[in-house]
This record gives sequence, structure tokens and C-alpha cells, in this order.
Amino acid sequence: MVDQPIFTLNNVCYAYKGGIPGLMDITFQVRQGECWAILGANGSGKSTLLKLLDGLYFATQGALLAFGQELSETALNNDAVNYAFRRRVGFVFQDADVQLFSPSVKDEVAFAPLQLGLPDEEVTKRINESLEALEISKLAERPPHHLSGGEKKRVALASVLSLRPEVWLLDEPTAGLDPRSQSRLVQFIRQRHAASETIVIATHDLSIIEQVATHCLILDENHHIAAIGQPAEILADHRMLHACNLIHEHTPAGATDRQF
Ligand SMILES: Nc1ncnc2c1ncn2[C@@H]1O[C@H](COP(=O)(O)OP(=O)(O)OP(=O)(O)O)[C@@H](O)[C@H]1O
Ligand SMILES: [Mg+2]
Repeated sequence: MVDQPIFTLNNVCYAYKGGIPGLMDITFQVRQGECWAILGANGSGKSTLLKLLDGLYFATQGALLAFGQELSETALNNDAVNYAFRRRVGFVFQDADVQLFSPSVKDEVAFAPLQLGLPDEEVTKRINESLEALEISKLAERPPHHLSGGEKKRVALASVLSLRPEVWLLDEPTAGLDPRSQSRLVQFIRQRHAASETIVIATHDLSIIEQVATHCLILDENHHIAAIGQPAEILADHRMLHACNLIHEHTPAGATDRQF
């Protein structure tokens, strides 16, 4: 089906062991080519939501569909379903250290195309393209665990780019990046968006909303949806942003173009 949603969440709740709430009653839909910014204070549930979308956690209540199929543990236990899903969805973790495991940056970026069983020529092409896109070609032979935080983030992005996913899940992609790297990342996200790829970004960075998002979802500190809307209307709602601990009490009007 052409206009089938990428993700459909109906009243999704997630509780960690011991009943610790991670997300409460989340209902929304992500369609192809949309760029969603998920905003919320620390602990509101942004990373939990991305992990649910990536099939790393499973809803404890409610239903989550990906590409029209229920994204359940049982479904992903089927190797073919799991492979097809992993092929389409790429996840860049909040903490790059969790993601990077190869002895060199080049090996890290080669991992996905090798897993896909692509011919050597295509693997080499994807490695080079991904390294160039993130401007990390000079780091190719370095061990990822010896890189700076921002460099690691770019390696993590390159390793997902080499998969060429249709859907990108980016957890705090601008955190810890210097201004030039942040601008490059925004450019990178725009390019993915221009290529009709679907993007879901968890962030505290309000500036990223105006620059890249087509839709915003705000989580409150009780893990519920506080608002869903277009970037301009969300950014104009200072009362809601303050109630959700996303801006300071005395933030002047028009000042939400900074990172808080
Ligand atoms: N492994 C875990 N076990 C128990 N509770 C957890 C676990 N991971 C997260 N939580 C809890 O779930 C809630 C949501 O956490 P989550 O990491 O999704 O927040 P977040 O919005 O990504 O925060 P941050 O802005 O700090 O990254 C928090 O209350 C947190 O304490
Ligand atoms: Mg998080």
C-alpha cells in the first residue's frame, strides 16, 4: 500500500521492571517522508519511545505497528521478519559507546553492508560514501573507542548511513557536537528528508525543530503526550513548553531558537 504509515502507535504504554513507568498512553502515527522531533525533559521517555520504534522494547500495553505489521517480540523472533525490519530501520543511540564495537572506524561502517551480503565493490562504495558524508574519512583506521564524543557520534551516523535505511531513529543527535558539526548534522538530516526518508529525532534542542522537523511530539514529565503539532505552533506555546520543562520560566518570546 503506497500511503501505509511507517509507525502506528495506539495507546502504547511501556513500564520497566518493577513497574517503573517509561511511557504512558502514546497514540500517534508517522508517515513516510515525515520528520518528527520528540521533545521532553530528562526522563520523560524519549529514548524509551525510540527503543520501542526500533523493536528493542515492546509495548507493555497498547499496540505498535511498523509498516502495517505488529512489532512484537514474537514477530521479530522470525529471522526473515527481523532481517527485513532491521534492513529498513536504522537507530543512532544517545550514547555512541553503546553502538560502536568494531576495531576500526572503517570496520564499523562496513558492518551493515557486509551483513547485507553485498558484493565487495558495493561495500567499498558505501564505506567511502558514508565516511565522506560525515567527513570522517581521515579517521577510517582509528579505533572508535579512542575518538572524541562528537567524532563517535559521526561514526555512529556513518555506520547507519551505510545500511541505507528508509527510517532513521536519532537519539539526541546534536548533543555534544560543536557548532559546525551541529550544522553539518542538520544538513545531513535535511538530505535524508529530501530523499523522502522518514526521521524520528529525540532531542532537547529546540532549534533543530524549526530547522528540520515537519511534526513535533512533546512528552510531559509524567511520560504522557503533552502536545502534537507543527513546529511553529509548538514553539509558540511557551506555557506548554515551560510546563514540560523545555524552556526557562523567563524565556522571552521568540527566544526558542536556542538550545535550552
Ligand atoms: N533501564 C531502565 N530501568 C528502569 N527505568 C528506566 C530504565 N531506562 C529508563 N528508565 C526510566 O524511564 C523513564 C524514561 O527514560 P528515558 O531514558 O526514555 O528518558 P529520556 O526522555 O530519554 O531522558 P533523557 O533526556 O535524560 O535522555 C525515566 O523515568 C527513567 O528513569
Ligand atoms: Mg534519552
